[in-house]
Amino acid sequence: MLLQGKTAVISGAASRRGIGRATAELFAEHGARVAILDIDGDAAEVAATELPAVPQGSHIGLRCDVADKASCLAAAAAVEAAFGKIDSLINNAGITQPVKTLDITEADWNRIVSVNMTGILFLSQAFIPGMRDHGGGSIACISSVSAQRGGGIFGGPHYSAAKAGVLGLAKAMAREFGPVGIRVNSVTPGLIQTDITGGKLTDEMRTDIIKGIPLSRLGDARDVASIYLFLASDLSAYVTGAVIDVNGGMLIH
Ligand SMILES: NC(=O)c1ccc[n+]([C@@H]2O[C@H](COP(=O)([O-])OP(=O)(O)OC[C@H]3O[C@@H](n4cnc5c(N)ncnc54)[C@H](O)[C@@H]3O)[C@@H](O)[C@H]2O)c1
Repeated sequence: MLLQGKTAVISGAASRRGIGRATAELFAEHGARVAILDIDGDAAEVAATELPAVPQGSHIGLRCDVADKASCLAAAAAVEAAFGKIDSLINNAGITQPVKTLDITEADWNRIVSVNMTGILFLSQAFIPGMRDHGGGSIACISSVSAQRGGGIFGGPHYSAAKAGVLGLAKAMAREFGPVGIRVNSVTPGLIQTDITGGKLTDEMRTDIIKGIPLSRLGDARDVASIYLFLASDLSAYVTGAVIDVNGGMLIH
């Protein structure tokens, strides 16, 4: 039980096969009271009721659009009113789009950047003051192997750019908030089997991709959830500004 008596907020944790949902389940199994924030408010509410119970109170699920600052502030106010101290924030929400550079419209660019990168700024801004006033906490930010190798399998260049921006933002926040006890780290997954690919991953593509992965398999949502658990727990008490790869060796650098 690595998070006994702790509280955690996880964005993008409503989709059934997603990384955020697996994280919410793992955190609750480890004793954390969890707030699920998702643009799909109904699914977030249902997901919260399905988590393993913890002694310090019921989990909650709320609608929050991370790309909308007012929505983030309202969600933070509601979660803090229910939970009091927030020990960890998992900035996990994200979207992708498989297009090439010359086909990216201005609206595509703005949408991908606002959810994947600006959303991390907005949600962090909403929760950092409370964390600071309560003596610290842990923030984990989702990036991607796509940021490091210049394109993943599904994300376009705007996705790579947004996910690379997350790495700089997280490192700068780590430097700024270390002195008040807030650790900020990033996670860079390889290809994880969730619904973000929208059913577009064919068996042929899967076989090809696996040839380039030393551990010879795609990742599972739980593989990433375990790294979030490490970052939220005291096991990582002296880790901040770090980038943790979860890619089966797809990129070794
Ligand atoms: N699956 C992969 O291969 C992979 C690899 C690297 C990084 N990632 C990142 O991991 C994160 C989780 O992805 P996943 O694969 O679990 O996908 P997913 O589609 O299963 O989950 C994404 C969740 O984010 C929510 N969401 C979307 N827009 C939102 C918004 N504006 N505000 C709040 N919530 C919003 C969705 O409703 C969904 O519940 C994403 O940031 C993604 O970019 C995924």
